[in-house]
Amino acid sequence: MDDLKSKYLDLIANAGDEAAIEDIRLQAVGKKGEVALKMRELGKMTPEERQVMGPKLNALKDEINAALAAKKAALGDAALDERLRGEWLDVTLPGRARPQGTIHPISQVTEEVAAIFADMGFAVAEGPQIEDDWHNFDALNIPPHHPARQEHDTFFMHREPGDNRPPHVLRTHTSPVQIRAMQDQGAPIRVIAPGRVYRSDYDQTHTPMFHQVEGLAIDTDISMANLKWTLEEFCRAYFEVDEVELRFRASHFPFTEPSAEVDLRCSWNDGQLTVGQGDDWMEILGSGMVHPKVLEAAGIDASKYQGFAFGIGIDRIAMLKYGIPDLRAFFDSDLRWLRHYGFSALDVPTMRGGLSR
Ligand code: PHE
Repeated sequence: MDDLKSKYLDLIANAGDEAAIEDIRLQAVGKKGEVALKMRELGKMTPEERQVMGPKLNALKDEINAALAAKKAALGDAALDERLRGEWLDVTLPGRARPQGTIHPISQVTEEVAAIFADMGFAVAEGPQIEDDWHNFDALNIPPHHPARQEHDTFFMHREPGDNRPPHVLRTHTSPVQIRAMQDQGAPIRVIAPGRVYRSDYDQTHTPMFHQVEGLAIDTDISMANLKWTLEEFCRAYFEVDEVELRFRASHFPFTEPSAEVDLRCSWNDGQLTVGQGDDWMEILGSGMVHPKVLEAAGIDASKYQGFAFGIGIDRIAMLKYGIPDLRAFFDSDLRWLRHYGFSALDVPTMRGGLSR
């Protein structure tokens, strides 16, 4: 008995892992283990012998089991200690460096605009920047020799002589997306379409590539009043002020009737731009009630449906909101400018969380 005891206690003391412990357990106190075999011999003993040997064997079994459990716990603790040493972390170290890049004001403003219109139930639609002249002009009620084609200072895609494909242009506005969205989705429809547009023009408030966001709402009972409300509501939300002053100026676009251009009250002082006060007006958008011919071109029944459309200059409203005086600098890729006017990638604009920092 003493031999058995010292043999197993030794083995347990030297076991290196849990698998070894389990082996020893089976070998010593398992069903066919050495102690169990000894217990079986009890049957052949005299009652007197049994009275002595029975308790001794039980005590031995208990002692081995206790040693196994203790060793198992000790191995577990050692493993945990080892892991804790490996996963040690100095929480007093400085945090990670701030990311170097910033979000361009145009991207930021596009996100802000999308958040505001999403809140009013407008989905986002898209179209190609290289557009065929039917979508860019004809479908929008601008026939081939209409003066509006010249007014747009259009960039035409190069064509080889003999190329019979329809002429393509760099889209001069986001209005062709009106056509594409109505063709795809029919009516009723409520979408905005932000994106790049191109015109050959260059000064403090014009660049040959710039950005617009188109808006389109078509249903059976949409009126000019809905247009006015939507634009005023948008401006208040976008400029984050209670009152903005808008000037609706009668205008003309071939694709809307009636049409209005909208100016925003502002002031320029020492190259600084302020919104809502002053004696200046900045044109920020064109709008109107969608022309029946445009609805028909897009496959919508104009005797049943009507609605409004608008096109906002994203770059213009970015300049106004963030006090950026020269549009040309937007696209110069000057790192100092980008660091100054850029936004943190972590400040995602939402209606609830706030549009801008
Ligand atoms: N497409 C016009 C432009 O680029 C803006 C506009 C859009 C006007 C929708 C009316 C309706 O100037």
